[in-house]
Amino acid sequence: MSNAAPIPPVAELHCHVEATVSPADARRLAARHRLDISSVFDDAGAYRWRTFTEFLHVYDAVSEVVRTPEDYFEITAHYFERMAAKGMIYGELIVSPAHAARFGLPYAVLMDAVASAMREAETENSVAGRIIVTAVRHYGAEHAFETAKAAAASPHPYVTGFGMAGDEAFGAAADFRSAFEIARDAGLNCTVHAGEILGPESVRDALQIFKVQRIGHGVRAIEDPALVAELADRSVTLEVCPTSNVAMGLYPSIAEHPVRVLSEAGVNVTLNADDPAFFDTDPVEEYKRAANAHGFSYDTLLGFTRNAIEAAFCDDETKTRLLNNIATADDE
Ligand code: ADE
Ligand code: ZN
Repeated sequence: MSNAAPIPPVAELHCHVEATVSPADARRLAARHRLDISSVFDDAGAYRWRTFTEFLHVYDAVSEVVRTPEDYFEITAHYFERMAAKGMIYGELIVSPAHAARFGLPYAVLMDAVASAMREAETENSVAGRIIVTAVRHYGAEHAFETAKAAAASPHPYVTGFGMAGDEAFGAAADFRSAFEIARDAGLNCTVHAGEILGPESVRDALQIFKVQRIGHGVRAIEDPALVAELADRSVTLEVCPTSNVAMGLYPSIAEHPVRVLSEAGVNVTLNADDPAFFDTDPVEEYKRAANAHGFSYDTLLGFTRNAIEAAFCDDETKTRLLNNIATADDE
């Protein structure tokens, strides 16, 4: 019999919107748009990739099935409905305007589609959501600059963050500095993928050059104890994605993942799915897997949720409501 800790309410800060589409839903959407995406599947019908670079290609190919505002509404609504049923109370989605632009979707139309699904989820399923508009690093510095400019030019109440995903090793960090400056000047909160594929230096760049409040992954900071201490001192929040890191070959298993060491060193850890349909996970699963592998107590797991809400890219009123909500969960 398992002695697994009960799972508290969950808050997620790091999930790519198109990565919520299951292989079955991708087939359905591909049929809707008369697309052949058979090359993205393995023999068992799961998404197929071997290396990080291949993963990024397959991600782009899968995301081609999501083309219309209705598609974006539908995938967001499905994710929030499923996650609310499992205990998620807050979720941020990473949304890349460049992906939708391939099919002629303007920035504002894309954001409205995702935001309407979040609004509906909040009313019907009591799960709040916000959007992180995202540039893709290997699409280049000009693209990142234009993405930040689009976000700054079209403020949207649900678009509260700016980030950058993609291949961390592409280009020099300084090339992307101005994109983050524009986003920050527009009042957007910032995060960036770093310390996933590259080591501690990329996390230092994220802090010094991009001046982000949070880091997507950041786990390879563990290779530099002084950096871990700095993250703790400066209260930088890490969007930790254990299953994703194992799938990408960073660590052999969740038991060998540094999530516990980082948390015990005083770093603000949160737990996230990253690309749920690619890694056969979701945020609630991440809490369960981390608890099983590291023996986290209910209180430690609840602390991850508290960290997420405190670092969430949402207004103070929503944060206070969510924090009160989990304080009640603590009493139960
Ligand atoms: N885009 C989608 N998933 C990603 C990941 N894990 N790292 C970088 N870019 C991504
Ligand atoms: Zn990611």
